[in-house]
Amino acid sequence: MREGTAHLVRREDYLAPAYRIRSVDLCFDLEPAKTLVSSRLQIERDPQAAPQPLRLHGEGLTLLRVLANGESVSFRHEDGSLVIDHPPEDASFTLEIRNSCCPEKNTELSGLYTSASGFFTQCEAEGFRRITYFLDRPDVMAVYTVTLRADKAKYPVLLSNGNLVEQGELSGGRHYAKWHDPFPKPSYLFALVAADLVAREQRIRTRNGQEHLLQVFVRRGDLDKTEHAMNSLIASIVWDETRFKLPLDLERFMIVAVEDFNMGAMENKGLNIFNTKFVLASPATATDVDFFGIESVVAHEYFHNWTGNRVTCRDWFQLSLKEGLTVFRDQEFSMDMSGGASARAVRRIEDVRQLRASQFPEDAGPMAHPVRPDSYVAIDNFYTATVYEKGAEVVRMMHTLVGREGFANGMTLYFQRHDGQAVTCDDFAQAIADANPGSALAVRLDTFKRWYAQAGTPTVTARGHYDPETGRYTLTLQQRCAPSPGQPVKQPFVIPVAMGLLSHDGTPLQLQLEGEDASAASAERVLVLEEAEQSWTFVNLGAVPVPSLLRGFSAPVILDDGLSDAERLVLLAHDTDAFNRWEAGQRLALSRLCAAASGQAPAHLDDAFIEAMRAVLRHPTLDASFKELALQLPSEGYVAEQLAVVDPQRIHAVRESMRAQLAQHLHADWMWAWEHHQVREGYQPTVAQAGRRALANLALAMLCLHAQRSADPVWPGRAYQRFKDAGNMTERLGALSALVESHAELAEPALARFHELFQGDALVLDKWFALQARAPEHEGRVFARVKALLKHPDFSLRNPNRARSLLFSLTMFNPAAFHRPDAAGYVFWADRVMEIDAMNPQLAARLARVMDRWRKLAEPYREAARAAIQRVAAKPDLSNDVREIVMRALADDASAAAAE
Ligand code: TRP
Ligand code: ZN
Repeated sequence: MREGTAHLVRREDYLAPAYRIRSVDLCFDLEPAKTLVSSRLQIERDPQAAPQPLRLHGEGLTLLRVLANGESVSFRHEDGSLVIDHPPEDASFTLEIRNSCCPEKNTELSGLYTSASGFFTQCEAEGFRRITYFLDRPDVMAVYTVTLRADKAKYPVLLSNGNLVEQGELSGGRHYAKWHDPFPKPSYLFALVAADLVAREQRIRTRNGQEHLLQVFVRRGDLDKTEHAMNSLIASIVWDETRFKLPLDLERFMIVAVEDFNMGAMENKGLNIFNTKFVLASPATATDVDFFGIESVVAHEYFHNWTGNRVTCRDWFQLSLKEGLTVFRDQEFSMDMSGGASARAVRRIEDVRQLRASQFPEDAGPMAHPVRPDSYVAIDNFYTATVYEKGAEVVRMMHTLVGREGFANGMTLYFQRHDGQAVTCDDFAQAIADANPGSALAVRLDTFKRWYAQAGTPTVTARGHYDPETGRYTLTLQQRCAPSPGQPVKQPFVIPVAMGLLSHDGTPLQLQLEGEDASAASAERVLVLEEAEQSWTFVNLGAVPVPSLLRGFSAPVILDDGLSDAERLVLLAHDTDAFNRWEAGQRLALSRLCAAASGQAPAHLDDAFIEAMRAVLRHPTLDASFKELALQLPSEGYVAEQLAVVDPQRIHAVRESMRAQLAQHLHADWMWAWEHHQVREGYQPTVAQAGRRALANLALAMLCLHAQRSADPVWPGRAYQRFKDAGNMTERLGALSALVESHAELAEPALARFHELFQGDALVLDKWFALQARAPEHEGRVFARVKALLKHPDFSLRNPNRARSLLFSLTMFNPAAFHRPDAAGYVFWADRVMEIDAMNPQLAARLARVMDRWRKLAEPYREAARAAIQRVAAKPDLSNDVREIVMRALADDASAAAAE
């Protein structure tokens, strides 16, 4: 039986806690089958609050004893929680609790659980209540002292937050360690680890002269894969000191890697716990993408130490306060780390691609919610692209409106005001505005904050009118935003539109607004759109200009720029803004893909487009990493989002045909690209090297694709050779994917060899599963292979990375293999969601979300999808997590609105 009942938690119902926990002393006797927890809480009553019962959260616990001020006290259970109707009347009292829990049966990976090497915890968002009874809410902050006792041979390393104050031997082969964390923290930041691990250590001295010990803990045998994580941590510490003057406040900072983990990593105070995927890397086993992923996740978790831990969230509706801000910070860090302007632009393009691939569909679907949600059933379902990535865009817009220095001042004021507190998104925005009186943000703060309150992606329509008589160019911007669940009508957003104008031969023009002095003109400016419609008139223009709008993707909106192909070709060839240059090429491709996928045009790429792509590929000064991004067609998922009715098979066929045309018409150019982008120096995960490897890999894939169509054995042979000889995983996997994606005969021996080479390496095996599940569908073979791989001895649904590698690869990234006219994909999806839900509801709910956009599907997909979702919804004993997702997916707009 599931514990607890599904009920909607509402933001407007927030009440400050009537009791606070000032300090907590925890003792753990760690055993996989039964761990004993004793907790001693120092509780204070709010003198203003009316006398009321003390309710401590608890879930799946066995209660052994409760004492209040050393004496027994009457209590009862309600929904797993512990209710003490008459706690002592003193302003401050102690509560002693003993309980047990069962870490080895904890397959949910929330609370205290066992993984191969020992015991680990995951407490965000509401996992602490699965360890002991507590006020498990982020606005209750306590000082923790933690004693761990465990078998010394099996669990030689005993860790918790803060500083180690004592350790020693116990009888029976056991040992203990006592930790104290001086910083008051919410329970979601508590962590412990008891495991058989080894550490890479580094001592550093920071600017103020303080010494710190940095440690990265991994399993024996993995130490040689921790250098990059350690370097990333040091770079993060230096960056936060330099850019935001935020120092490391701990004597010791630990990172621990664990195989079984629901998300990327967790920022527990001083003891970050990471999915191994975001720690372990060597050139032989990790790709360039993995190296960058590690750098950015290590930074993200480290940056939480200030944005999340020192200042935390008042309640879970404020999640974006820490997540949006911390994503913004890790994005800025990655850009600063990557070097020059064009490498920065590549990072920005990748971030925007990610936003459009996951957040835009979310904002247009049944799970649409504001950056600061108004209600939830399962908070774990709201660790979303909207809270994280759109939240980061909202912070980025503030940065744009107040400027880089103004933003840094705003951060300083935020910490002056709120260090040590649990606060709201309003507090953050207020601090940024107050530090910048009179700024474009401060003068319209209330309307700006609609970004926190209103869901949905606004569409901005831009139309220009040039008057040759007067040399005036009038740009009119309009905005609108479709209704979303519970929000039928939207108020206008504040939208910063960074822009420039180009002449038709590509020269940047000076922007002088009507009524302005010529000396005020510049080549780029930010227009602030805040009404439903506004116009700006630029003067002194000799000829009709080409507008370059929303440069750097200055706001998370859909732009309808109404530009012609000819104007887009100008931008692709000449825009000074690298993001818009890339965007112009993507739009040229997108319009062709959409026209063909909706049956309005044949799937034919015209010469103008092919020549433009050739010019980018052969460009003498553009970076390889930029070229690689520009030469990729928009994904099938992104094309689907543009269409009112989606036929996944048709989109796949059209895109594959266009890919084949690019492979054919640019054949000589791809050969050139392959030959001229080989990296001959030693492997370094730098932007420059990674760009060359990425472009060479794309070239190889295109050459193999063309070879398959022209029955040419040379390129598959070369790819196989490269696969065998490659000195690093990026090139090895690139060659393997080129073979698998082109259905070359050599793909099978290569896959077998890869498996044999990397049998013992879980993260590499994940790649092996994922690659097969992501191969372009071909006569139903990919789907059949995924079903067969489910029974592979190395496959397990219990390990989230492994489950994702096969199931998410198929359902999220391989639409043509998943959306089958015979509905077998949906049957498979429903079975797996229900199977995983019995073990790990968080993971099951993520998989459930792949059907969010089912209403857009053409028949016969749509009805089959509905039936599969209904079958899941009808299952008794479904978790709240999955129930919330499938109920929202099935709710029609009217009833979804009523449920809000
Ligand atoms: N706070 C973590 C981060 O963004 C996210 C996270 C890690 C998480 N584990 C989780 C969220 C489990 C919910 C459940 O860095
Ligand atoms: Zn985070």
